[in-house]
Amino acid sequence: MTNNDTNDAMTKQTLLITGGAGFIGSHVVRLLVYKYPDYRIVNLDALTYAGNLENLRDVEHAPNYVFERADITSPDEIKALFEKYRPDGVIHLAAESHVDRSIANPLAFVETNVMGTVNLLNAARNIWKDDAGGKRFYHVSTDEVYGSLGEEGLFTEETRYDPRSPYSASKAASDHFVRAYFHTYDLPVVLSNCSNNYGPNHFPEKLIPLIINNIKQDKPLPVYGDGKYTRDWLWVKDHASAIDTIFHKGRTGETYNIGGNNEWKNIDLVEKLCDIMDELLGKPAGASRRLITFVKDRPGHDRRYAIDASKLKTELGWEPSIKAEAGFRETAQWYLDNDAWLQHVVSGAYQQYYNQQYQTTGNK
Ligand code: NAD
Ligand code: DAU
Repeated sequence: MTNNDTNDAMTKQTLLITGGAGFIGSHVVRLLVYKYPDYRIVNLDALTYAGNLENLRDVEHAPNYVFERADITSPDEIKALFEKYRPDGVIHLAAESHVDRSIANPLAFVETNVMGTVNLLNAARNIWKDDAGGKRFYHVSTDEVYGSLGEEGLFTEETRYDPRSPYSASKAASDHFVRAYFHTYDLPVVLSNCSNNYGPNHFPEKLIPLIINNIKQDKPLPVYGDGKYTRDWLWVKDHASAIDTIFHKGRTGETYNIGGNNEWKNIDLVEKLCDIMDELLGKPAGASRRLITFVKDRPGHDRRYAIDASKLKTELGWEPSIKAEAGFRETAQWYLDNDAWLQHVVSGAYQQYYNQQYQTTGNK
């Protein structure tokens, strides 16, 4: 039997994961494939520049795993796959996810994040119209929909939406559509809004893997503006476990914030990564810090994100498992051990993006 011939009679549930070849999606797919051998896990992904099946080499032959290359912006492709698999649950992660790219090309974010999400909602509504009992559409979203905080305060689930980049505006719009389908059509939905993730398989356009990759290559480390922008960092495998918890135990129609209780100013984080890398590479203390270069700021840059995740802890008993220092060290070591992965994703297309992004910010 190949993985495409999964025995339906033995399958309790079919879960369709969108964006399963991406950074967070691949950790979610792996967790579900191993933890629930009697589920059929269908990974639906268009394999954009950010999707990479190398992230899932260890699960590709699992009998309960299927990959389908499809584009969520195509209503026909999505409808056909929903009819083929008739999923009991959907965990929707597919998205354009990088803020800087959204500033350069907002429309791509509307197409994937808004239109793509509505296509999925329509397809789920269509196959569950006669009986939505026990079904669930889980929309994975971001804390960026809440806007920007000052020095104090935390985002709760009640914080008013105030998206300020094309990326966060597109994610906010998709969240609104998901809730609208719950209220208007009784579609059984659940949502989460999470802070910044880090860990293995993170595409090196994002801050942490970009800094690690540049240190490896002895290249300048671009820090936007004054470097005092603050993010709350969550270990990606903790995000995957929170998604598992919310998918199985969260209340229908509810939203859960997910965070790491782990706030860092960018400059402090970059210095920490420099010190960890110096140690792992056997360089003299302070060597990598000399590569830090302050560059032109991101337009509309949100000053601070911080999450109040107490609802998730109180209601569902979930908390992050890993401490920052250990997580950053494990991440840096992963990038050192997986040079082939890094070389494959840092393709010609990525080089072109990098040159454009950092030439315009004065950093070569
Ligand atoms: P990513 O960019 O690494 O991966 C996105 C995946 O979606 C890729 O595999 C890509 O091929 C796929 N995809 C893109 N467009 C598609 C399309 N049209 N059809 C089908 N597949 C498509 O993203 P990520 O960082 O893993 O984020 C996953 C989700 O989590 C996103 O919805 C993002 O908004 C959300 N999120 C991310 C973070 C974070 O820190 N990375 C934090 C909170 C929430
Ligand atoms: O908060 C959740 C969000 O976190 C997710 O929804 C997004 O998908 C994810 O990309 C991330 O968004 P950020 O914009 O916070 O992440 P990024 O890694 O791009 O940047 C983190 C911080 O570092 C931010 O303040 C900008 C800054 N930065 C980033 C880059 C790429 C730099 O100073 N230099 C850089 O070169």
